[in-house]
Amino acid sequence: MVAESRHDGSPNIGDFSSHFNHTPVLLDEALNFLTPQRGGHYIDATFGGGGHSRAILEHSSPDGQLLALDADPEAIARAERLAERFPGRLRAAHGNFRDIARLATENHFSRVDGILMDLGLSSYQLDQAERGFSFRYAAPLDMRFDRGHGLSAADIVNNWDETDLARVIFEYGEETRSRPISRAIVAERSRQPIATTDRLASIVERAVGGRRGRAIHPATRTFQALRIAVNDELQALREGLVGAVELLASGGRLVVISFHSLEDRIVKNFFRDEATDCICPPGTPVCVCDHRARLRILTRKVVQSSPAEETLNPRSRSAKLRAAERLP
Ligand SMILES: C[S@@+](CC[C@H](N)C(=O)[O-])C[C@H]1O[C@@H](n2cnc3c(N)ncnc32)[C@H](O)[C@@H]1O
Repeated sequence: MVAESRHDGSPNIGDFSSHFNHTPVLLDEALNFLTPQRGGHYIDATFGGGGHSRAILEHSSPDGQLLALDADPEAIARAERLAERFPGRLRAAHGNFRDIARLATENHFSRVDGILMDLGLSSYQLDQAERGFSFRYAAPLDMRFDRGHGLSAADIVNNWDETDLARVIFEYGEETRSRPISRAIVAERSRQPIATTDRLASIVERAVGGRRGRAIHPATRTFQALRIAVNDELQALREGLVGAVELLASGGRLVVISFHSLEDRIVKNFFRDEATDCICPPGTPVCVCDHRARLRILTRKVVQSSPAEETLNPRSRSAKLRAAERLP
């Protein structure tokens, strides 16, 4: 996740982007775990605004190599512009990190020294009204990282049955009012299809009885749920983690920054399993899984932003970083 703007003079990539400056979250912490070195090979699986990528390139000067991935073609266009500043050192590939192993092979990255996943969406995406991620703007309900593929949020909201909508809103939004919300969506769409963010936000707001007494906008959780469903984010993360471990060289580092408990739980459980020799169910008399630990966990406790970073960049408040190292 990245901040919308910054004025504190820390590294930014504003001069190669148009008018946004991006603040990478937990940058020092991510670099401390990735330990970029000259000659190393790194993958930034979520290029976004490129703040982490640029720092990795600078710390692995003069010849470290970086492969930048993003599901959003617009992020890849930014990566291609950044590549001009680091001749011969940055390759950019459009794709979902669930395919990280294939994307790496296609770009001649095999034994990788560090992989970063900074999950979720960038402020470029959030701030572009027409992407439909935010109910701050009246915009078409889209929410796809890659607008060239897959179902949009409007497709889901207007076509899924009430039970599936309630399940997604409950599971991915952790929204306890998922049933009245899905009921209201189904009732409203029968009058007229729900095409815009503001209409959906007001349907949700009415369904839960307004904003009073709520710390966050009543539609926040429903929007999170739809974004996760549209981009199949949790399954992509599970598959991306598996692919990432396969790619790491011995001693290579995997660093994941997540922004909500659903993501963090997946990362935590994956690291725990990959750091354990046997993952047979408790009570199994003899190991039948043949599982062997491939990772050593580097973050016994999850790493979170400092009060200073939270002040400068409120979006860092929910960030959780976990890191692990590939065993020989
Ligand atoms: C939080 S931003 C990354 C910000 C970046 N670290 C920076 O410093 O600017 C997350 C980015 O990951 C991308 N993304 C999210 N899920 C993805 C996936 N499964 N595969 C590839 N890219 C993904 C989004 O399109 C977005 O650009």
